[in-house]
Amino acid sequence: MSVRLFVAVRPPDAVLDAVEEVVGGARRSMVGPRWTGRDQWHVTLRFLGHVEGEQVGAISQALDTVSRMPPFPVRLGGGGAFPRPSRARVVWLGLVGGDDPMTRLAGSVNGAVEPLGFEPEKRDFHPHLTLARLRDPGDVTPAVEALGDGPVGPAFTVEEVVLYESRLSRKGARYEPLSAVALAG
Ligand code: 2AM
Repeated sequence: MSVRLFVAVRPPDAVLDAVEEVVGGARRSMVGPRWTGRDQWHVTLRFLGHVEGEQVGAISQALDTVSRMPPFPVRLGGGGAFPRPSRARVVWLGLVGGDDPMTRLAGSVNGAVEPLGFEPEKRDFHPHLTLARLRDPGDVTPAVEALGDGPVGPAFTVEEVVLYESRLSRKGARYEPLSAVALAG
């Protein structure tokens, strides 16, 4: 049986509390986007897609090499949209600090899974936490403005990366952590 996997960083509760607050304002600013819930919030480092269940062990093991990276501080903040606010499919919260080490961490994850046949991502990596998705591209400028460009929540230390299974259903996606690697470099 196949499973849908991705690798991500999950911010701590105190940060998610602050995200909840800022998202409350953004939600009130417009209707239309499908907002994600607190349980779904994470910064994706690499989407692996569908793999056979038997491969999960090998993927977890391969991710162990990521532990060579040291923990590092990041801070969330700054609303944005993909591909752009005037015609968006995704509304997100970015980082106001720690972009570079987060990008290096994503590179380390990519390097870890490449020997298993996961080709490096061609798209540039833009660390973000997805807050909402739109079925049809729309203007989300009010939501992006409501999110602002200042920090959201306290800075936190990225201490681990998590391998998640994404279970899709009519009620939306549920993300189950399967394994985690502590940064110990
Ligand atoms: P996103 O946050 O930018 O939407 C689980 O689906 C996670 O994997 C999401 O956070 C999503 O990123 C990410 N992801 C990356 N590429 C994806 C793809 N092609 N299809 C679905 N999710 C993808």
